[in-house]
This record gives sequence, structure tokens and C-alpha cells, in this order.
Amino acid sequence: MAGELWEGRFAGGPSEALQALNDSFPFDRRMFREDIAGSRAHVTMLADVELLTAPERDAILGALDAVEAEMASGAFEAVASDEDIHTAVERRVTELVPEAGGKIHTARSRNDQVALDVRMWTRAELSDLAGLVVTFQETLLTHANQVGDAYLPGYTHLQQAQSVSLAHHLLAHGWALARDVDRMLDCLDRLDVSPLGAGALSGSSLPIDPAQTATALGFSKPFDNSLDAVSDRDYVAETLFITSLLGVHLSRIGEELILWASTEFGFVTLDDAFSTGSSMMPQKKNPDIAELARGKAGRLIGNLTGFLTTLKGLPLTYNKDMQEDKEPLFDSCDTIRLTLLALDGMVSTISFNTETMAAQADNPYSAATDLAEYLVRSGMPFRSAHAVVGELVRNALAGEGALVDLVEAHPDLGPDAAVLLSPGASVAQRTSPGGGAPSAVVSQLAAFADRVAQDRARIEA
Ligand code: ARG
Repeated sequence: MAGELWEGRFAGGPSEALQALNDSFPFDRRMFREDIAGSRAHVTMLADVELLTAPERDAILGALDAVEAEMASGAFEAVASDEDIHTAVERRVTELVPEAGGKIHTARSRNDQVALDVRMWTRAELSDLAGLVVTFQETLLTHANQVGDAYLPGYTHLQQAQSVSLAHHLLAHGWALARDVDRMLDCLDRLDVSPLGAGALSGSSLPIDPAQTATALGFSKPFDNSLDAVSDRDYVAETLFITSLLGVHLSRIGEELILWASTEFGFVTLDDAFSTGSSMMPQKKNPDIAELARGKAGRLIGNLTGFLTTLKGLPLTYNKDMQEDKEPLFDSCDTIRLTLLALDGMVSTISFNTETMAAQADNPYSAATDLAEYLVRSGMPFRSAHAVVGELVRNALAGEGALVDLVEAHPDLGPDAAVLLSPGASVAQRTSPGGGAPSAVVSQLAAFADRVAQDRARIEA
């Protein structure tokens, strides 16, 4: 069977079982644009260093255009020996321009080629995903601006703790997402090294110019060490971690939305377009998007652990194990994209039931810390104040009277302190920097808006 890249060395063709296990074309064909862009830069460089004539270069460039058009339109016809995207492109170029095509792989290996393609694919994908995260942050910001002074119980241990402004709660998720954007941009910086020119592992005896191809492909610099260039998949592992942690953040948002949409909480009402029904129970409206945001995190973490396990213990340099980078990478990027888009739709159309939230937050016990801090202002040590209020709460729970009445009657507290138990009073107390009072959130809203605008500009730069 002819057509294999290594047919000179081998007496016969590969077995079917080998091909079925080995071939990556079914999934790596989605990097065809990156592969062809890399080949364009490579042949241009080869002509500049006089390893190709200008007519040979132009013939190959013309064929690359044709192959790209075939692949983009779906007209490309794969053959059995198209083991991967690199093989497929070279095979077709050589069919179109046999003489010049035989020179396209001069001073290049699929090892530096695949390292280049995956890097370029990841580069485009990460900056696109960062844009989607910022879009979701903008959705949170829009709500945070619109909900004004609305407040809800804040929780620790999922027990009502202190009431907080709703904007404060929404922005808390926004800041976590800001760190995800940071991680994406940071990874893009580290990824900004071209591996093309490393060859199979050790460069070439021919006078190639890796710096030229690096610049042509939009990288800041070429590799320093050819062995590292073809071995390095850090950017894949980092992307799998970044999408995992982002997935964990979306999962936590999802979990809250599931709770908030329950009859017991009733804090939000979901838009019909972003909810599902039940095949059996006519009354049901389910938060499937939020549940999938929670569930997909498991898959993302699985991709990360799986790939780190693949990499561990691999000797330098390229090993076929590394072909296992692409499916988890593509899957994690596709998964996080779908999750971000759906969750953004769900959150942007949500209605907040601010009266229900306020009714829960006005539970007088949520103001217990404010009562203790009232005593601290009059000079009582916090530990004693904690004990005084704790005893009042215990007495109220034991049925000795409403907390507000016990507070009014207490010699160290009295009517001024009892005001702290009136609706909406408690949340307004925590005015310290970065705190949960609506007045403290005003400057945070401005800082977050700035941050989001800066990130949008950083991504577009
Ligand atoms: N399909 C391979 C991969 O994805 C390309 C590199 C193959 N290199 C090799 N020497 N067999 O990793």
C-alpha cells in the first residue's frame, strides 16, 4: 500500500488495527487552518533561505490555498493514508503540485508541526473564551447595577449569616471570573513561543530561520531548545486547568441558582427559554442549565487529570502518547464554551424576587453581629458583647420574647440598638471597605466596571 509518509523504509502497509488506533485525522482535522498557516510560513522561509525557488514556493502556496478551500467547504476527500491533518495536507498538496510538493516537508517534522498547530489553536481559543467570560461578567455587572439596594441573606455553612446587598453577592462571582480571565491571558503570554524549526527533535542541518516563521505566525519569539519545543504541552495542561477552575466557578454559580430557583428559596424566577419541563409532572420547571454547569465541571476536571496522567513519566521528546492532548483539549474548550453561553443566557434573563430575599434577610437573628458591634462601639470587649447577644438569642429562641423586645429591654442595648433589627437596617451597617452594605458596594461597582473594561481591551489587544 503506497502513500504512507515512510513508505521507503517499509515493505508493506499498516494493518487496519494500527490505523484505527493510530489515526488522529478524525479529530485533528479541525486544526486545518493552523496547519496550513504554519505551512505557508514554512515554505516562505524555505524560499528566503534558498531551499526553494520562488516558483516552487508559489506553486506550494497556491496548492495550500486550494487545500484550505477544499477543507473549509467540505469538498476535501480524505484517503486511507491520511493519518493526521499534517499528512492529509501534505498528501493533497503533493497531488496538486507533485514536483514542488515533495519539498514542503524540508527541514520540518510532524513533531514541530503538531506542536505549532496545537499552540496556535489554543492561542485563538483561549482569547475567544476569555471574551466569553468577560461577556458573562458584563451580564453580572448589568444586574448588579440594576438591583440597586436589594439584599438577601448571606450564608456560611448554608446557614443564614449576615444580610448582604444582592449586587455584592453577584459581584463576588464576577471577581472569581476576573481571575479566570487573568489566568487565560497569563497562559497566552507563556504560550507565545513558536516551536517551528525544532524539526523532529534537534533542529536541522539546513539553514532554516525559526525566528522568521515565529514572526510570520504572530509569535514573539522562537523556541530556545528544540527538545523542549517538541516535548512541551504545558499550555495544553494549563488550558485544561484553567477551564477546570472556570468550570468549578460556573458550577458554584449553578448550584446557587438551583437553590435560589427552588420553591423553598424562591429567590429567582427563570425565563422559560432557559428552563426545561418534566415529561411527567406538568407543574415542573427545571434549572437544567445550572445543573449542567454543575455537572460539566466533573468532565473538565476529568480531562485535566487524564492528560496530566498521560504526560507524567514521558521521556523527552515526542512520544505518540502526546497525540492524546487534542481530544481533551477540544472537549474542554467546547464544553466550557457551551456552558458559558447557556449560563449567560440563563442569568441575563433571570428575575430576582427581591421581596422574598428581603423577607428572609430581615430575620432578626441576621442582625446579631450588628448588635454585638453596637456594644463594642460603647466600649465593651467584643468577646463579652458576643456573649451578651448570644444569651439574648438563646432566650428569644427559648420563647422568652421576641428578640427585638429583649434588645429594647436590655440595659446595655435599648431602643437605639433595637432599630438595627428593623427591615433593611442590618445590611446597611457593613460599610467597611469591600463590605456588603449597598453604600460600600458603590465603589466596588465602579472598580469592577473598570476591571471588566480593561480585560475586554486586553483581550482585544
Ligand atoms: N498526529 C500526531 C499527534 O497528534 C502528529 C505527530 C506525529 N509525529 C510522529 N512522529 N508520529 O501527535
